[in-house]
Amino acid sequence: QTITAIVPAAGVGSRMQHSAPKQYIELAGKTILEHTLSKLAELNELNTIRVAVSDDDGYFADLPHIDKRIERVSGGKERADSVLNALLSLADNPPDWVLVHDAARPLVCLADIQRLMTECIAANEGGILASKVKDTIKRGHTHSEQTVPRDDLWQALTPQFFPYQALTDALSSALKNGVTITDEASAIEWVKQPVKLVAGRSDNIKITTPEDLDLAAFLLQKQQN
Ligand code: C5P
Repeated sequence: QTITAIVPAAGVGSRMQHSAPKQYIELAGKTILEHTLSKLAELNELNTIRVAVSDDDGYFADLPHIDKRIERVSGGKERADSVLNALLSLADNPPDWVLVHDAARPLVCLADIQRLMTECIAANEGGILASKVKDTIKRGHTHSEQTVPRDDLWQALTPQFFPYQALTDALSSALKNGVTITDEASAIEWVKQPVKLVAGRSDNIKITTPEDLDLAAFLLQKQQN
């Protein structure tokens, strides 16, 4: 089974209110993107690692060398466009599976990634890392209108792991039809194919707002020791 990793890293990170895109913020001695790519580079089962970077990105070229399997491809307007561009860049020599992982999630642990891949390949189904919702969830705008039962609620994490062709077809079709796609699983759900939920560590956070930085730096330092 051939497996390629895709890392969407073409966002501008507007919610971070920082001059550089968030994947280039330095935490615990390295940029967030370097932490993420160094983790993925530890997985020998990946044949290439395609990083979707925006065409006007002036930072990627200056990253230190991490691994010879890392290749840059052009990102797109939204995350889903970035992932589809990376998928289409593989069309000449498609892998069996793709492992899509956000640049902004440097804290993922390798054991979780390995479990996701093993369980999906064994079941011959795509799947995602996810964690059970822990908080009480409210629906509303200015006032709470409802408490949402949480026993079947999961928070979707990445990596998300799908057969190459199934994901390429699902994403192309969902984008053509104007479906809102915030992760790979939403495209697969739209074409009514299975998405296995594989429980992963909830500290695999997506660094999004300034208050995530201190926590991420603390956790990265802890992982490095
Ligand atoms: O903005 P958000 O945190 O949801 O982005 C998740 C991931 O998708 C980030 O790693 C970001 O760089 C990436 N992204 C992308 N192309 C875009 C927007 C976001 O690759 N157009």
